Amino acid sequence: MTEAIRYEHLKTCRQSGARLGRIHTPHGVIDTPIFMPVGTLATVKMMSPEELKEMDAQIILSNTYHLWLRPGEDLVEEAGGLHTFMNWDRPMLTDSGGFQVFSLSDLRDIDEEGVRFRNHISGERLFLSPEKAVHIQQSLGADIIMAFDECPPYPASYAYMRDSVARTSRWAERCLKAHDGNNGQQALFGIIQGGEYEDLRRESVEDLVSLDFPGYAIGGLSVGEPKSVMNEVLEQTTQHLPTDKPRYLMGVGSADALIDGTIRGVDMFDCVLPTRIGRNGTCMTSEGRKVIRNASFARDFRPIDEACGCYACRNYSRAYIRHLIKSKEAFGFRLTSYHNLYFLIELMRKVRQAIKEDRLLDFRASFFEQYGFNRP
Ligand code: GUN
Ligand code: ZN
Repeated sequence: MTEAIRYEHLKTCRQSGARLGRIHTPHGVIDTPIFMPVGTLATVKMMSPEELKEMDAQIILSNTYHLWLRPGEDLVEEAGGLHTFMNWDRPMLTDSGGFQVFSLSDLRDIDEEGVRFRNHISGERLFLSPEKAVHIQQSLGADIIMAFDECPPYPASYAYMRDSVARTSRWAERCLKAHDGNNGQQALFGIIQGGEYEDLRRESVEDLVSLDFPGYAIGGLSVGEPKSVMNEVLEQTTQHLPTDKPRYLMGVGSADALIDGTIRGVDMFDCVLPTRIGRNGTCMTSEGRKVIRNASFARDFRPIDEACGCYACRNYSRAYIRHLIKSKEAFGFRLTSYHNLYFLIELMRKVRQAIKEDRLLDFRASFFEQYGFNRP
């Protein structure tokens, strides 16, 4: 069977060690390192696929858990798959539901077979297993699908994490067995867990690499641990991963973490952060985050970010967008979401350029200086 995806390594930044590459998928090629906007319910909230293309989003993510509950994977399959259903013809990735079961539902019960829990909308009793998560994702039809894992809370005890990592490895093997590859049109990635415990991360990497997935995600991060812990875990993990497969850091989307993750050898990132804080009236800018709904912007007729060339910044002022958001007008949320997504997509384009020119550490220093991370 031919592989559904292929990682092409273009170069390693001589200054930082960051990777520049491309991932070939059935729906086209993506440039890495890359940020993937999140479209949980088969829509990136507030954005049309045409707008996502205009801002040069190359791949988007959707969620098994949510689409399984509503509208159901059978309906999506009947529509011709997720791509046709939502009119997105570029690459797509679905998360397995593992994380959402743990973050959204209470009353869950984990055993070897899978997870029993209650639907966070209706209260109905449900069961998700590695086999079920793979079958749902096969019906949805994304280019890249994820293994069903457990993402334990932070902090978790060593004993709990040790048992959890072992189970996640056994689940990963069951996912591989259940996955038929959709005629070479779909790749299944494994997910590394292990919390902040170096030996357990190492064990998780060894287990998953021995199963030979076409790509590896690093899960269980951005769950409340300090930044220094995330950076250490990334360093320890990526050094043991094969260099000819993509690495995906799950659920991370702050500008600083994208740069610091890239420097530690990560190729793919996703997060709801830009759209979530956008709907809350907060913008990511080259000078750090700005809470556009604050009174200080009431008479500020400059764009959100004077250094940004996005549709929102070319046409609308902080004062106008603040007014819309204060009035809960949908257009205001659309403009802040557009800008924030554009900001991260553009940031990663600049990061790729810096890798190409062997100056990612210089880029980091000037970006952090302007963004305000180095200020007291
Ligand atoms: N999204 C963010 N973190 C995780 C994780 O650990 N596992 C999964 N499946 N999805 C995630
Ligand atoms: Zn902008």
